[in-house]
Amino acid sequence: MQRFEDKCVVVTGAGSGFGEAIAERFAREGASVVVADLNPESSTRVAAEINAAGGRACQKTVDVSEEDQVAVLMQTALDEYGRIDVLVNNAGYSHLSKLLWKISVAEFDAVFAVNARGVFLGCKHVIPAMIEQGGGSIVNIASIGAIAPRPGVTPYNATKGAVLTMTKGLALEVARHNITVNAVNPVAAETGFMKGATGHDVLSDEMRATLTSTIPRGRLAQPRDVAAAVTFLASDDGEFLTGTSINVDGGRSI
Ligand SMILES: NC(=O)c1ccc[n+]([C@@H]2O[C@H](COP(=O)([O-])OP(=O)(O)OC[C@H]3O[C@@H](n4cnc5c(N)ncnc54)[C@H](O)[C@@H]3O)[C@@H](O)[C@H]2O)c1
Repeated sequence: MQRFEDKCVVVTGAGSGFGEAIAERFAREGASVVVADLNPESSTRVAAEINAAGGRACQKTVDVSEEDQVAVLMQTALDEYGRIDVLVNNAGYSHLSKLLWKISVAEFDAVFAVNARGVFLGCKHVIPAMIEQGGGSIVNIASIGAIAPRPGVTPYNATKGAVLTMTKGLALEVARHNITVNAVNPVAAETGFMKGATGHDVLSDEMRATLTSTIPRGRLAQPRDVAAAVTFLASDDGEFLTGTSINVDGGRSI
């Protein structure tokens, strides 16, 4: 199935975790993928693996919180492929889990700069091109924590609440330009994200069991679960969906 043949897809935070799986899935389905990440080593690896598997990908280094870098990313993608059909605003991280009153202003501002400003900047710098080319699709990676927060990561969850509100408001602003804007809310997954949130490279068995016990389907999310929802929203099958979000959470938010 080649749902994205002749399409150009930009994925931020594509050097690891969900973004890596999203980039690979789009490439497997025919897209030319811009693998964008703060980390040049991991994104170079992901782009090389896609190309080695017969797909089409190029690597770009970007800090999504920096407007000039995001503007260059979009312009480079446009120069290379002539259009941007899909933007996946996936780059993000969490501050270390702790109670809100123990979190510094610097930690608060830093997580908003990447998770909320980064989504704003991605949208801001892709929409003029999408309007000019006659349409497109934006998928923002929020979190189930935006609608069913756990204690310990409250400012992080608030960034994802901002992403969901931005998704809905922007969907209205661009609906008549044939642009859809949607979000995906993943539940916990063992990606690089967990190191930022827990301070440990891998989850302890106890922590994994505690998280899993809150998920009716009985397991954590896998990157492939998120990639499946993102590609559905960005595909022709998702053309009438806008301003909505899919909870990829194994039932946790019920
Ligand atoms: N893993 C989870 O439990 C979970 C749950 C819900 C939502 N999320 C969200 O999913 C998204 C992807 O996270 P993941 O779980 O794959 O984690 P990850 O750490 O494996 O991947 C995140 C990627 O984003 C990149 N990145 C971080 N800051 C960046 C910046 N300023 N500019 C560009 N790239 C940057 C990192 O280098 C990394 O490659 C994030 O937005 C995260 O908040 C994760």
